[in-house]
Amino acid sequence: MTVPIGIHDISMATGQYAMDLAELARRNDVDVNKYYIGLGQTTQTVPAADEDIVTMAAAAAKQIVAKHGVDGIRTVLFATESGIDQSKSAAIYVQDLIGLSSATRAVELKQACYGGTSALQLAAGIVARDPEQRVLVIASDIAKYDVDSSGESTQGAAAVAMLISANPNLAVIDETVGLYTAHVQDFWRPNYRSTPLVDGGLSVRAYLEAVEQAWKDYESRGGRSVTEFAGFCYHQPFTKMAYKAHTRLLELKGIDATEARLYADLSPTTIYNRAIGNSYTASLFVGLMSLLDHAEDLDGRSVALFSYGSGCVAELFSLTMVDGYREHLRTVENRAAIAHREPITYEKYRALREFALPEDGSDVTLDATSRSPFRLTSISGHSRIYEASHAR
Ligand code: HMG
Repeated sequence: MTVPIGIHDISMATGQYAMDLAELARRNDVDVNKYYIGLGQTTQTVPAADEDIVTMAAAAAKQIVAKHGVDGIRTVLFATESGIDQSKSAAIYVQDLIGLSSATRAVELKQACYGGTSALQLAAGIVARDPEQRVLVIASDIAKYDVDSSGESTQGAAAVAMLISANPNLAVIDETVGLYTAHVQDFWRPNYRSTPLVDGGLSVRAYLEAVEQAWKDYESRGGRSVTEFAGFCYHQPFTKMAYKAHTRLLELKGIDATEARLYADLSPTTIYNRAIGNSYTASLFVGLMSLLDHAEDLDGRSVALFSYGSGCVAELFSLTMVDGYREHLRTVENRAAIAHREPITYEKYRALREFALPEDGSDVTLDATSRSPFRLTSISGHSRIYEASHAR
């Protein structure tokens, strides 16, 4: 008998500040409903200057090791497209900050927003080979576009950490998946840029094409039918994208994509992303957490997930919820992480954007502003120095 492998625990962290998109609408002199309704976004997380993908990742992962310990964790897979180094993996900083054994494989994975899903599947493979092992999967990103560009309304930041194990408490990762890769220049970030180049319209069309093609591959490999799923989670660069994607899927299957049907299928998955904004690799899993924290009991039911990373790679996969999974959720902590962000004005956001870490190799010490359990304190001798605050 094969042992069930899946998500044993899942936790999240986000940044210090939240900017209401009414602030951006004021700046851009547009109707705020373009953002609230047209994109389905109300606020976006803006990290403090002493926060980055490592501090968010460590804050999410700390919750997992506090509950489950570190035994059996021999691999950390860190998915991101906001890398802090071209060579050294961000996973090593997290391994150190949260006290994992030195007998650990710590690596970083990249394929735009798809990276977290690749980490999840690779983790499942490692556990299949040795069910005694547990793998820490982290997806952490800061979505940042040029100021005064149309992408600015779809920014955000968050990290999700997942413990992948045999006989999981939450959800089993089902084996059948649908895959799709195509060379498309919809969104990419050359090494010399700190923000991506993006063709917004093309990116939406490429995403929708990927939904269709990944679903067709999934079906051809004997996957479930649309009507067998109790929930649908999509990568959410903005929550309205999930509505566009699900409409495409339902139409492909000849199902009427009524407003009521779309709302019933999608609204629980969009609550957190609507407030956080895009978190690239983490966004799909933030959507999953939102679904689990807000849906009726899904014991024994299956949920479809669609992962899209520009460039592009997409995967349609599914999870089957374990009986009693609701006893293991972190709903209170997840809601608090979002609710406790400090509201900021457009002017404060702009000042944060204008602050940049030196690019000439000089040292800098950062003011302590983050309330996260971990912060970036300085750059010294070309190295990033982090601090764990046990008081936080
Ligand atoms: P934009 O030019 O700001 O907005 O670009 P728009 O003019 O397309 O309007 C947006 C929606 O608001 C439209 O709805 C308007 O009709 C509506 P739609 O027709 O699309 O359904 N609207 C209003 N609704 C109500 N009241 C009003 C009103 N006014 C207008 N008053 C865009 C939007 C998303 C393209 C831009 O923000 C952008 O380029 N974002 C970055 C790229 C992106 O998010 N792409 C998504 C797919 S690719 C992806 O998901 C991968 C990604 O996560 C990266 C990765 O993989 O690493 C991005």
